[in-house]
Amino acid sequence: MRKKVMLNTYELEDAEFDTFKQLIYDETGIKLTELKKALVRARLTKRIRKLGLDSFKDYNEYLKNNYDAEKFDFINSITTNKTDFFREPRHFDYIKNVVLPELDNMKLKKIRIWSSACSSGEEPYTIGISLLEYYENKRNKPEIKILATDIDTNVLEKAKIGIYTFEQVKGIDSPLLKKYFQKGKGENEGLFRIKDSLKNIIYFRRLNLQDETYPMKGHFDIIFCRNVIIYFDKETQSRMFKRFSKYIADNGYLFIGHSENITRICDDFYLKGNTIYGKVLK
Ligand SMILES: C[S@@+](CC[C@H](N)C(=O)[O-])C[C@H]1O[C@@H](n2cnc3c(N)ncnc32)[C@H](O)[C@@H]1O
Repeated sequence: MRKKVMLNTYELEDAEFDTFKQLIYDETGIKLTELKKALVRARLTKRIRKLGLDSFKDYNEYLKNNYDAEKFDFINSITTNKTDFFREPRHFDYIKNVVLPELDNMKLKKIRIWSSACSSGEEPYTIGISLLEYYENKRNKPEIKILATDIDTNVLEKAKIGIYTFEQVKGIDSPLLKKYFQKGKGENEGLFRIKDSLKNIIYFRRLNLQDETYPMKGHFDIIFCRNVIIYFDKETQSRMFKRFSKYIADNGYLFIGHSENITRICDDFYLKGNTIYGKVLK
């Protein structure tokens, strides 16, 4: 029997869902299961309304005929961007207590970090705050550069602007909030803007983790790849981490999300701590 999902007047037929599923997989590596059908329907319904179209069938046609332009909004509609400042705080304690003292011993002039699925910026800004705090009273201050990338152009735009609501920043300790955020006044009451001292060390770019090579030169001392591989299948994860090993320094650190595990899918990294990996030297 054909399954149909209804939302107002829009129906998502299996055939169209299958087309969207395949396109998203090919473009992003995101594996949508049957369970995600309702989510896809809800997300794309918004896009269909915005375009003034009448059905998923029409949207499918539209997508085919305008693929190069529409694919960005199509992808943006499907990605899940949940994030937070200081999400999974243990990672930031580990950076402060283990990684940075180790890098200090190496007397690096520059520390390079990559937040590889940065969503709306909370993760790279948290990394930035952690490093600026660590080096604040140190005599030797290396140059800090954080590359923050995501496939979703909407969240990247938000990240670049760097303005957050009270709800989004309320978990940040008040001295840090004062130090790194400009509190809005008047019509901006309730908004918090990232100060330039923090913004200036972060570079936001669109990057698809599925690309066969990445346009970066040199090696990163720390890579964050958190809460994104849960959306990929094992083969996609394995190919991606093999690629990552080319972009991480020999003594670099890889952080993944707390519900993620790469031990069985790749032999390029070894476990150093819970969800924290080092590079296997070959
Ligand atoms: C749930 S958020 C995680 C954000 C942040 N890393 C954290 O842990 O809070 C996942 C992000 O991965 C991004 N993403 C999904 N597929 C991607 C791909 N193929 N390349 C780059 N980013 C991708 C999504 O756009 C989304 O912003």
